[in-house]
Amino acid sequence: MIIAVDGPAASGKGTLARALAEHFGLAYLDTGSLYRATAVRLLAVGNTDPTEDEATKAADTITAADRESPDLRSEATGQMASTVAAMAGVRASLLAFQRNFAANPPGGATGAVMDGRDIGTVVLPDADKKLFITASAKARAHRRFLELSASGDPTSEDQVLADLIDRDRRDAERAQSPMVQAPDAHLLDTTELDIDAAFLAAKAYISGPAR
Ligand code: DC
Repeated sequence: MIIAVDGPAASGKGTLARALAEHFGLAYLDTGSLYRATAVRLLAVGNTDPTEDEATKAADTITAADRESPDLRSEATGQMASTVAAMAGVRASLLAFQRNFAANPPGGATGAVMDGRDIGTVVLPDADKKLFITASAKARAHRRFLELSASGDPTSEDQVLADLIDRDRRDAERAQSPMVQAPDAHLLDTTELDIDAAFLAAKAYISGPAR
């Protein structure tokens, strides 16, 4: 069983994908962490304006430690991840890892749940189930603001909203694997749903008839 979960930043897709993986006994991969780890590597050496070559080399050499960096979830890392994610070399570098994860899920799991922007369209177009998770920009900014505040980040909600809109636009308008709902994906809008309600809706879709 391979489940693709795509959607914009702070839509709740990560929390949902993790819960689905646990429920169905599947391996879980947060593919955004690969782009974020690439950004962490670049920012660690002060490279805030990398060429495609530099970013591709960073993507080629990410390690498990990069994906566990305390800076992984910061806003600066997210923006840089979105910038390097528009580069064809970076995407090509990270594609094999993602497909290999789905083909050989770790821990003896019989399948995988992977979340990102292009899982159902490009990485795993033959996934058994595809979800596209969205929510209004305002609701997403509010959730992200609460997360950042809890982690001690002194940002404002307006700034978070502006950054989100910026990132959405870059992710959706890029030429390489833009963020878009696959025609055969099930749309789940979580604007008015809490995590439990979103989980129940996603579970019902996954347990339902084949795509
Ligand atoms: O899901 P996230 O916020 O951790 O992702 C960070 C950035 O990585 C996102 O803005 C775009 C990029 N990304 C991507 O282009 N394709 C994916 N499958 C996952 C993430």
